[in-house]
Amino acid sequence: MISSALITDSVQKARDLLKNSARVAAFSGAGLSAESGLATFRDPDPESLWSRFDPAELASVSGFETNPERVIDWYNWRRGILAKVAPNAAHRALATQSQMMQITQNVDHLLELAGVPASNVYHLHGSITRDRCHESDCDYYEDVDLAKPPMLRACPLCGGRMRPAVVWFGEDLPQSIWHSAQVLCTRLDSLLVVGTSARVYPAAGLITLAKQYQCRVIVIDPNPDSTRDIGDLNLKGSAGEILPELLDGLNLASR
Ligand code: OAD
Repeated sequence: MISSALITDSVQKARDLLKNSARVAAFSGAGLSAESGLATFRDPDPESLWSRFDPAELASVSGFETNPERVIDWYNWRRGILAKVAPNAAHRALATQSQMMQITQNVDHLLELAGVPASNVYHLHGSITRDRCHESDCDYYEDVDLAKPPMLRACPLCGGRMRPAVVWFGEDLPQSIWHSAQVLCTRLDSLLVVGTSARVYPAAGLITLAKQYQCRVIVIDPNPDSTRDIGDLNLKGSAGEILPELLDGLNLASR
């Protein structure tokens, strides 16, 4: 167990680094939303999603084509949970930095609910708050009511099947968002990496890319085994505890 004096010392070092950084962005994963009550994917916890469910069945094109009802039911179950939760102290702390870009792997909308402008969030893995047509040559999207999400249905434009507007394993990331996130990561002085095991590529490659361009990386995660100390500074603790202390009174910007 790390002492609170030590936490404060490492947070102070990170604050000093941020104060000397002209350009800062955040790169987040499921741990950012954990304190809101959303399960992570790979925590060594029986509640984490990939210890309970098979990603090949639920988060891949072949899983959807084999059993679309099962996939839609699973996303609708997650939507029902999301409908009942709220942003936590970590989302709110990030939202105080109105000039800072948020690159996230999360498909929830808790950053936006905390007050981050939608234009400041790059959702690398899409969004669970929308559906889209599964046909690659159809560009139909629709917002969904998280509390009453639709069952499997046909696209009103082309008759294809509608599906959650998320990125599945084996699919490409949304091209313009991915391009913008890459460009941003070549220009940063510091990157805050929050609540991600950084195991899913290409998203996790942004950390390496930023480092290649001399960016300093500050990792916030309670489990150093998960993040393998990928940061120049590794702050061990929950995002909801550390981010408010870290960002208090700062005015960070990405451009
Ligand atoms: P993971 O579940 O792989 O990692 C979550 C990380 O959050 C771990 O390092 C935890 O230690 C950490 N964590 C847990 N609670 C935390 C807290 N309160 N504060 C800070 N950190 C905490 O989730 P991701 O890295 O987001 O992709 O997973 C990446 C992708 O894998 C997801 O976007 C999803 C999944 O398959 C798709 O669905 C395409």
